[in-house]
Amino acid sequence: MEERTLSHYTTPTQKTLENLFEDFMKKESIFKNKDALSIKYRPEKIYHRDEQINTLSRILAPVLRNEKPSNIFIYGLTGTGKTLVTTYVTSNLEAFAEKHNIKLRVLFANCKMKKVADTEYRLLAHLANLLGEEIPTTGLPTDEVYRRFYNALERVGGNVILVLDEIDALVKKVGDELLYNFTRMCETTNDVNVSIIGISNDLSFIDCLDARVKSSLSEEEIIFPPYNYEQLKDILFDRAMLAFNEGKIDEAAINKCAALAAQEHGDARRALDLLRIAGEIAERNNDDRVEEKHIDMAEEKLDLDRMTEAARVLPKHSKLVLFAILTVLKRKKCVLTGDIQKSYELLCAQMGLRPLTQRRVSDIIAELDIQGLINASVISKGRYGRTREISLSISKTTHDKILLLLKQELDL
Ligand SMILES: Nc1ncnc2c1ncn2[C@@H]1O[C@H](COP(=O)(O)OP(=O)(O)O)[C@@H](O)[C@H]1O
Ligand SMILES: [Mg+2]
Repeated sequence: MEERTLSHYTTPTQKTLENLFEDFMKKESIFKNKDALSIKYRPEKIYHRDEQINTLSRILAPVLRNEKPSNIFIYGLTGTGKTLVTTYVTSNLEAFAEKHNIKLRVLFANCKMKKVADTEYRLLAHLANLLGEEIPTTGLPTDEVYRRFYNALERVGGNVILVLDEIDALVKKVGDELLYNFTRMCETTNDVNVSIIGISNDLSFIDCLDARVKSSLSEEEIIFPPYNYEQLKDILFDRAMLAFNEGKIDEAAINKCAALAAQEHGDARRALDLLRIAGEIAERNNDDRVEEKHIDMAEEKLDLDRMTEAARVLPKHSKLVLFAILTVLKRKKCVLTGDIQKSYELLCAQMGLRPLTQRRVSDIIAELDIQGLINASVISKGRYGRTREISLSISKTTHDKILLLLKQELDL
C-alpha cells in the first residue's frame, strides 16, 4: 500500500522535462504578435466608425484657420472606440497642422489614471508638464498651479485641444468646479484658442453637471453606439490575423468572442481580451489551436477577475455580509435575509465590531445583487412581509476564490 502511494509521487525525470521542453520548441507558437490584441495597439483600420471620425474631424477643422473649434462631448459605453477614434483624428490633425506651419498642440489626459488625475492639482500639473512647465508634484497652492498652467498656455499660444478622457471619473473624484474653470478659460485666455474634448463612458454623466458647464462642454455631442455582432466580427478578424499564426485559431472561436461581447453591450475591448486570454490558455495547455472551448475558459477567467476585484473593493461591512452569505451557500442552495443577519452578527461579535441594523444589511444585500456577486430575489411571505431569497450567481471556482480572498482581507 505504502509503496503504491510513493510510486505515485515520482518527480518528473530530467529526461521527461527535456522531452517537454523539446516538444515546446518543436511546436509552432500560437501567437505571431500578441501585442496586436493589447489595449495599447493602434490598429491601422478602424471599422464602422466613419461617421464619428468625419464628424469629429469637421468640428475640429476650423483650428486650421486659427478659429477656435466648439467644445465637444463624446459618449458611449466602454470599448466602443472613443479613445481610438479621438487619438486617431487628433494625431492626424496635429500632423497636418505641423506640415502647414499651423500652431496646434493636443494635450491628452486619461483621467482614470491615478497619477494623472486623482486631484485637481495632479491634473493641472500633468497638463502643464505637457506644455513644458515643470510643476512640483505637491506643495503649491491650487491658485498658483492654475496661474502657472494658464501662463504656460499663453506662452505656447496658437491652438490647444485639451482631451479629457474618462472625464466622468475626474468629476467623481474632484467635482465639477475644475471643469467650470476650464470652460471659462476657453473663453478668457489671450492669444490662445483652447477647446475641450470630454470623453465619458457614463451616459448620464452630463446631466449631473452644473448647467453652465453642461452647455459649454457639450456645444457639440458625438455618440458612439455599441458594436453589434457583425461589426465586432470585422474588428476581431482583422486583429486575429495579425495576432495568431496561420491555422492557430478557429473561425468558430472568433465568432464566439464576437457573440459574447455583443451580449456585453458591444464592448470591443472585452472581445479582444477574450481572444488574448483564450490564446494564452491554449498555449499553456499545449493545445494545437484556439477553439471555442478556450473562449469559454477565457470568459470564466475574466468573470473571476472581475468578481474578485468587485469583492476586494467592498467596504468592510459589505465584505462581512458577503462572507456570511458565501459561507452559508457552501452548505445550502439558497438562504433568506434573516438567516444572514444572524451569521453576520456572529461575525461582528467575533471581530469586536458593532453590527449594522437589519435594514442596512438588507440594503447591502441589494447592492451585492446589483454588482452580480449574488442573486437576491424578493419573495413575499404573506402577512409576514417580504424577504429576499439569496442564491449563488457565480461559478464554484469563483465562489471558493472569493471566500478565500474575503478571509484574508477580513483577517478571519
Ligand atoms: N472600430 C474599431 N476598429 C478596430 N479596433 C477597434 C475599434 N473600436 C475599438 N477597437 C479596439 O477596441 C479596444 C477598445 O477601444 P477604445 O477606443 O479604447 O474604447 P473606449 O475608449 O470607447 O472604451 C481598443 O483596443 C481598440 O483598438
Ligand atoms: Mg477609452
